[in-house]
Amino acid sequence: MNSSAPDRNAAAQPPAASAGPPAPVFRLSLVYYPDPVLRVICAPVETFDTALRDTIEEMFALMRAHAGIGLAGPQVAIERQLLVCGIGDQQLCLINPALQESSEPADSVEGCLSLPGVQVKVRRPERIRVSGYDPRGRKTSFAATGLWARVIQHEMDHLNGVLICDYRRPSVKECDECPLSLPAVLVEERKHRMRP
Ligand code: NI
Repeated sequence: MNSSAPDRNAAAQPPAASAGPPAPVFRLSLVYYPDPVLRVICAPVETFDTALRDTIEEMFALMRAHAGIGLAGPQVAIERQLLVCGIGDQQLCLINPALQESSEPADSVEGCLSLPGVQVKVRRPERIRVSGYDPRGRKTSFAATGLWARVIQHEMDHLNGVLICDYRRPSVKECDECPLSLPAVLVEERKHRMRP
């Protein structure tokens, strides 16, 4: 998910000066719509090793470099249940997440790093309780509200191949011609895969 702030950090990095720190070199790169990996249903993470933690660190860096507030595995072509979020100076990684509880939904406009320029009003619960694992494989469970609840649910959707554009159907005609179009019934099924 992206923030509403202008994408100030997405500009090309200047060449590294010999005296200064080197510009970041990313092994991962952002996947954009309509790459079919964005429709994959991700498998659970099974191995919590150093390679996983390196990947997570890089996902955080990539998310920040694009002024995003959330990034999910498929957005970097990793077909695993893995997401990172960062709001202000707080950040969170959640692996194999499951929604335990949710409140009444409310509408808010969302964007997505994989769908530049697209903004969709999305109806989601404002308060959730979610469980999953941290990068060291320790079980975690916590409550989230407001923007945190929204970004976690947005990224959890990515793990099931659901995108913000799915929330505006069936009112938008172009969606029927979309190269990634999914039948509405499948979208609904996927939205509920990690929910109570
Ligand atoms: Ni997104």
